[in-house]
Amino acid sequence: MSDAKDAYDVVVIGAGPGGYVAAIRAAQLGMKTACVESRETLGGTCLNIGCIPSKAMLHASHMYAEAGGELAHLGVKVSPKLDLKQMMAHKSETVESNVKGIEFLFKKNKIDWIRGKGQLAGGGAVAITEGKDKGRSLTAKHIIIATGSDSAPIPNVEIDEKQIVTSTGALELAKVPKHLVVIGGGVIGLEMGSVWGRLGAKVTVVEFLDRILPTMDGEVSKQFLRILKKQGMDFKLKSKVTGAKKTKSGVTLSVEPAAGGEAETIEADVVLVAVGRRPFTDGLGLEAAGVETDKRGVIRVDAQYRTSAEGVYAIGDCAPGPMLAHKAEDEGALCVEMIAGQKPHLNYDAIPNIVYTEPEVASIGKTEEELKEAGVEYVAGKFPFSANGRARAMLATEGFVKILADKKTDRVLGAHIIGREAGGMIHEIALAIEFGASAEDVARTCHGHPTLNEAVREAALAVDGRPIHI
Ligand code: NAI
Repeated sequence: MSDAKDAYDVVVIGAGPGGYVAAIRAAQLGMKTACVESRETLGGTCLNIGCIPSKAMLHASHMYAEAGGELAHLGVKVSPKLDLKQMMAHKSETVESNVKGIEFLFKKNKIDWIRGKGQLAGGGAVAITEGKDKGRSLTAKHIIIATGSDSAPIPNVEIDEKQIVTSTGALELAKVPKHLVVIGGGVIGLEMGSVWGRLGAKVTVVEFLDRILPTMDGEVSKQFLRILKKQGMDFKLKSKVTGAKKTKSGVTLSVEPAAGGEAETIEADVVLVAVGRRPFTDGLGLEAAGVETDKRGVIRVDAQYRTSAEGVYAIGDCAPGPMLAHKAEDEGALCVEMIAGQKPHLNYDAIPNIVYTEPEVASIGKTEEELKEAGVEYVAGKFPFSANGRARAMLATEGFVKILADKKTDRVLGAHIIGREAGGMIHEIALAIEFGASAEDVARTCHGHPTLNEAVREAALAVDGRPIHI
């Protein structure tokens, strides 16, 4: 039985970006809130072993690569020397300060951090089955599942997080591999492949489909492939890995054409498996609690994040939709606001998708392929960074901005950017879509000069056939 101190308005299971935001928002709205987390630290995959440490490594490795390359062209001559231990220390400090930040926010908002693994025990109860608080039983009017996701496995490739790694092990390598083979040309594969490639590894990406970043706009995906090849990354498209054998010196991979055919072997020091993620709901007791999932294990929810069990909600990676930290954060806040009787709204057509490589790739709204498939008549306005003065000054002329607007109404339907700081620029279009703006609205907005964002405005002008600088 739970005692009064364990009786809550809201219990959130999982303290990743979805869960901790839900907990903070619930506390802000005056609800007595607890957040159950089995990891030693708060912040979930994103802060501990995902977004944050990978961005520390992406930034540091980019600096290293620039020091060994572009800086000389700018008249800054240096001979960089890699200190991987220090780079890893920077990564760990970054993680530590972020997770401590969440701890502070929990204290500030009087959220109880329950340490252990939560299990749905029926009738509004959450049992703590493992960890420091094992044996406690919490009760809550509302239970929010925010348990996230973990790496999807592939048959005959056994992860040991040393030679055959997921993104977790790829962030912890003790030395730069000579040959890193990445299975999966998606976000994780290309980001982590970039990190180790910049630090000196030969990187080969084996991708099942005929393109990388399969959900992104086709033109972006094609140009990005060219850019990465130019940076020295090797690609084996339309190929599948059928097995991995560990040897003394590394790993021997069997690779076959995706459509079937003759197999070949590839020798690697380290193999990164990055073929997607799946909802993580182990040990939650979903079935017994009457929480339905689809056949991929994704928890079914309605428009208010309510599952099939009374008083139980699900948000973030374990619920439907893209597996992105910012989508989870928004859903966390929204779910709690809806519980409080508010009527908030998230525009699922305006969720940015960013790959933090160099150049970055950023996308929002519809791709050309999606618009064609839906039979929507649209106009594409495109502007290359090679015609942008600031980009020239920064040696960042690779890539372009493409804006897709409805042919009749001129309403912005999507935008796709490859280029330095594309991830920042895409938010200009996020706002445009959110406010139902037309390409003309973007084109009529005065943009500071000289900025990379001027390329966004020029792409908007190009929708109407009147770009100035090209
Ligand atoms: P992903 O879904 O982005 O890419 C997986 C790739 O693997 C796809 O191109 C797919 O065609 C390929 N693939 C699948 N099975 C294969 C096989 N057997 N052999 C070869 N290729 C195969 O998944 P990823 O990169 O693992 O990322 C997982 C999730 O994490 C994604 O939902 C992503 O959005 C999220 N994430 C987001 C980041 C960001 O926003 N910057 C960074 C890292 C992860």
